[in-house]
Amino acid sequence: MPAAPIIRVSPVTAALRDAVLRVRVRPEQDRFVSPPAHTLPDAEQCPGSEPMAILLDAAVVGYYRIERSARSLAGRDEDADALGLRSFQLDAACQGRGLGVTVMEALLADLTQRHPQARRIVLMVNSANAAALALYRRAGFADSGTLYHGGRSGPQHLLWRALP
Ligand SMILES: CC(C)(COP(=O)(O)OP(=O)(O)OC[C@H]1O[C@@H](n2cnc3c(N)ncnc32)[C@H](O)[C@@H]1OP(=O)(O)O)[C@@H](O)C(=O)NCCC(=O)NCCS
Repeated sequence: MPAAPIIRVSPVTAALRDAVLRVRVRPEQDRFVSPPAHTLPDAEQCPGSEPMAILLDAAVVGYYRIERSARSLAGRDEDADALGLRSFQLDAACQGRGLGVTVMEALLADLTQRHPQARRIVLMVNSANAAALALYRRAGFADSGTLYHGGRSGPQHLLWRALP
């Protein structure tokens, strides 16, 4: 039986940066997320952002950024002490293999190590993004119940999850 793939997450280091910039989702998903080539330089400049790489064995297969305050997502004061998750994406070549849940487990484990004081994580997801909604629900996220309009591709749900 082949060994199970090892998923890890890591801050985007100089050694990982070029591979992160090559991560691309499927063309039809471009309306849900911007590519790292657009958002990584911004995350690197922003003191409240942590750009992160997703690795499958030794290869970079995805990207996300953690915001130290989720208030920047929807502007809600009650999210000020929660972490925010943005730009979460897996390269098209690695999607649809059930890796999403394993990636989310690694992401949450990393947060509890590096942000032990954090109690919640918050994200926004487009209401038409079925794959992401299924993944987040399976990973234990709950819907805040409010739809946010004004996103570039239609209404968005604000989801949240308690951190251990
Ligand atoms: C969201 C994303 C990371 C999920 O990765 P993935 O490899 O597709 O994840 P999985 O294969 O583990 O599938 C996750 C769930 O979505 C379901 N799913 C996958 N593609 C789907 C689709 N097109 N429609 C409906 N459900 C879908 C799977 O069946 C699975 O559900 P289950 O756990 O109930 O079986 C990936 O689709 C992605 O990178 N999308 C583009 C970027 C994006 O939209 N990011 C979210 C920004 S908020």
